[in-house]
Amino acid sequence: MDKVKEAAQKLKNGFLVAFPTETVYGLGADATNQESVARIFEVKNRPINHPLIVHLSSINQLPDWALEIPKYANELATEFWPGPMTLILKRNIIAKDFVTGGQETVGIRIPNHKIALSLLEEFRKIGSGAIAAPSANKFGKVSPTSFEHVKSEIGKDLSHDDLILDGGISLVGIESTIIDCTGSSPKALRPGAITDKMIEDVTGMQLSKQVSNIRVSGSFSSHYAPNAKVVLDIEPQQGDGFIALAEFETPVGVTRLISPKTVEEFAQELYSAFHIADQMKLQRIVVIPPHGDDLAFAIRDRLLKASNGK
Ligand code: TXA
Ligand code: MG
Repeated sequence: MDKVKEAAQKLKNGFLVAFPTETVYGLGADATNQESVARIFEVKNRPINHPLIVHLSSINQLPDWALEIPKYANELATEFWPGPMTLILKRNIIAKDFVTGGQETVGIRIPNHKIALSLLEEFRKIGSGAIAAPSANKFGKVSPTSFEHVKSEIGKDLSHDDLILDGGISLVGIESTIIDCTGSSPKALRPGAITDKMIEDVTGMQLSKQVSNIRVSGSFSSHYAPNAKVVLDIEPQQGDGFIALAEFETPVGVTRLISPKTVEEFAQELYSAFHIADQMKLQRIVVIPPHGDDLAFAIRDRLLKASNGK
């Protein structure tokens, strides 16, 4: 049987399927199956009140999951889905507490990845067609951007009946932009490849600067962190790992982890550089963060969290 069909059947039978997306790999379960969703939290060691993103394959599933969708949210969905964007909307009754962490909102995303989309479509033919999935890493750790990362991070915690789909390297490389769509204007909760400017251009609205009381796990001060200590903007010393744009030279005695030529490549390769550093058991990674807005801003957000503000 074709792997994707087999994976859809696994979801239907209540098992977990880790799958590739363009941002990072997700650890998926049927979003309507409480026991399956509970296993995601076990495998990840994730605190139970943390909401999960529900992945869908088509905008026409949106009304099943969300209520009172504002016009600007529909505009964003039409423009950027499938894509690296999650919308937080008022939940419909199918979105239970075990997915939303007891909140009255639900996070929804249509990923832009061939395998993810065909998995979702196959699962729609035989089941709910909705996959609840956080990033497929241990809580607080680095998100996986390849099959190998998923396997080394959570492989031993999966059961014989769970499955990991291989879809190569995640092209975006950092998690989706999260936008709170419960107010009169959109509010950015987690920066990503869909930038503030793109959101403002499409909606014709200014982003809300109001402080929201919505919980976002990426907003914990230490997150996305490798075992090695991440330090920003210092001169690397002998034995350090080093991450910087290609234009920066590698000092003698330092292990160059990646040399991205562009900000896009920086995002794409960052987490795999963290994984390599941990495999090499490096103690410390020195990073020169990229300057600028947009994707560079999202990268700096992840670097700050990985360095715990250091
Ligand atoms: O790119 C991504 O978003 C990846 C791929 C797999 O789709 N997923 C991902 O999931 O990064 P996770 O669980 O690692 O991060 C999702 C974030 C969490 O911080 C969670 O708190 C937030 O989304 N979230 C989900 N539902 C929410 C809700 N109803 N209200 C507020 N935040 C929510
Ligand atoms: Mg995560």
